[in-house]
Amino acid sequence: MTQADLFVRSRWQQLADAINEHNNAYYVLDKPSISDREYDRLFLELQELESAHPELATADSPSSRVGGAPLDGLTRYEHPTPMLSLNNSYDAEEIREFEERVRRFLGGSAPATIPYLVEPKLDGIAMELIYTGGVLEVGVTRGDGTVGQEVTTNVRTIRNVPLKFRGATAPARLAVRGEVVMTKDGFQALNKRRAEKGDKTYVNARNSTGGLVRNRKPEEAAAAPLRFYCHSAGIAEGVEWASQSGFMELARAYGFQTARGIKLCEGIEQAIAHLDVIEGMRADYAYDIDGAVLKVDSAALQGRLGFVSRAPRWAIAYKYAAEQAETTLLAIEIQVGRTGVLTPVARLEPVFVGGVNVSNATLHNAEELERKDVRPGDRVVIQRAGDVIPQVVKSLPRTEDRPAFVFPETCPDCGTAVVQPEGEAAIRCPNQIGCPAQVRTGVEHFVSRLAMDIDGLGSKRVEQLLLEELIADASDIFVLDQHRSGLLMMEGMADKRVDNLLAAIDEAKGRTSARLLFGLGIRHVGETVAKKVMQHFVSFAALRAATEEELAEADEVGPIVAKSIATWFASEANRGLLDRMRERGVQFPDAEVVEVSGDNPFAGKIVVVTGTLESMGRKEAQAAVEAVGGKSSGSVSSKTDYLVAGAKAGSKLKKAEKLGIEVLDEAAFLALLNG
Ligand code: IVH
Repeated sequence: MTQADLFVRSRWQQLADAINEHNNAYYVLDKPSISDREYDRLFLELQELESAHPELATADSPSSRVGGAPLDGLTRYEHPTPMLSLNNSYDAEEIREFEERVRRFLGGSAPATIPYLVEPKLDGIAMELIYTGGVLEVGVTRGDGTVGQEVTTNVRTIRNVPLKFRGATAPARLAVRGEVVMTKDGFQALNKRRAEKGDKTYVNARNSTGGLVRNRKPEEAAAAPLRFYCHSAGIAEGVEWASQSGFMELARAYGFQTARGIKLCEGIEQAIAHLDVIEGMRADYAYDIDGAVLKVDSAALQGRLGFVSRAPRWAIAYKYAAEQAETTLLAIEIQVGRTGVLTPVARLEPVFVGGVNVSNATLHNAEELERKDVRPGDRVVIQRAGDVIPQVVKSLPRTEDRPAFVFPETCPDCGTAVVQPEGEAAIRCPNQIGCPAQVRTGVEHFVSRLAMDIDGLGSKRVEQLLLEELIADASDIFVLDQHRSGLLMMEGMADKRVDNLLAAIDEAKGRTSARLLFGLGIRHVGETVAKKVMQHFVSFAALRAATEEELAEADEVGPIVAKSIATWFASEANRGLLDRMRERGVQFPDAEVVEVSGDNPFAGKIVVVTGTLESMGRKEAQAAVEAVGGKSSGSVSSKTDYLVAGAKAGSKLKKAEKLGIEVLDEAAFLALLNG
């Protein structure tokens, strides 16, 4: 590989890791970590890199997926047809470009004026409701777009969800899609009640909706002011419509509610004008909206336009700019994160913006702070886009002079002199082992779901354990069974909780070495890199002994990642931490080797699994393909070698047939798999 190749690959990895993290934050945790606009930028850069370097577009690239993985705990349910997302736009020019793309795609047959249905974009939780013979059968969250969580019991409690279609005739099967939202008033009232009871209040309506929809106590969902607004359809058997507006009318006739302000517009300029009308009505909506959606109305045109990767060509979202407000900056505090980065945080006089009370906002880093010259005591403009952490935009002109904020030269948590690595904006505390802030966030990461996955150890609990000195680092978790009485003295810890926690810790001792490696929080080592590294070295001991050069030979590991891993393992303190883990029963199992013997027919081939298989789940089938050296992908393209089609295979099967890709039924798949 040339230096340029390495650079491109490492940038791709950076983007893929970042997008995966943000997907997880958004879809799984309901806690978006960046604004949609920033996300779109990352995604676009990734797609551009992949179109210039197609070899980067691996089957597990975030560009081939629709979202993140569904949470554990609830039953997973595969959508009959995938729930996709929408491409975003931010101004009228981009909307006009959207129409140009539509026209280009349709060619000479495009109508002189294209009718569009313009709808508000509801900021809630996407949901699919599947009706058989007009009777509600299942409610499924969007999940990763392919598989969601079955939440039927909670959905039934939503007052405006029809349990049965109105009217005499119902189609054989219809999946109605829409958004579950909570009214703004309802949200305020709910939070007030929670505060009075001493329960934790929710950050905003969308988060609380997400929590309630997935809540395992349906009575809590039932008591909440949740509503469902229909906006599209999934699988449809025994029913047809000629247009999006026709579908919405039909849905209303069946008893569904649709949002206010929907309008059929003749042509793009009328549609653009209506986007403004909806924006003007934003505050009057009973629930949060974060933009509008423009859809080509004609079903026939929609059919011709089709989809590209994860979004329809016939629709586009128009996202509103962030809401801004003015307030006073009371103080600037420095927070130290897991990787030691010092982040300046603004403490604000509370102000209501974008539907919530904001009293903290990020100032990003020292460079931004200096550029904006924001000083404690200033009147400042803050903004909030969606659920993202609010930001300080700028200071208003000062009427009196105030001293500038001086960025600390030592870490506020441990006093170590800070460093600023060349070419980086971030200022760091280098004391990874001894800095209390880094230890706390490091342990939180270590026990988190994608790492050691220790149930019952949330961030509050970890903080308590450190505070009570029951643990000093991650290795101490594995001797907590010797501190039973200490655990019992902690707030909210009764016998049963302690038993459960100790059992969860015991179970975690056997976690894969890839999870362990990811959990160590080594810079640039995300989930994917950790897996690839363990595949390469198999044993953790071999990984520990590897030189930087040897590390760089692993898949997905470039010079930056190799250096980061080597530096981590070179530290005496880190090696001590690992030794203590091993002494305390952590097993560091060898990675199960993926045999790329070349003699299995799937070795080196790209395989897509769709529909329902009888002998195994889809994830299992994908894992089986990977276990014999194949690559599994979520979408069919000309690069696909095989499509494994189970029962009820839908659009993927059609596409594969159209592209002339070899289709295997379950029996043929199993035969090839077993050689
Ligand atoms: S149409 C194929 N219409 O926005 C696209 N989606 O980024 C089908 N959303 O999670 C979606 N309001 O749940 C559509 N009026 C609206 C919408 C809407 C909100 C959500 C949707 C999806 C996301 C797409």
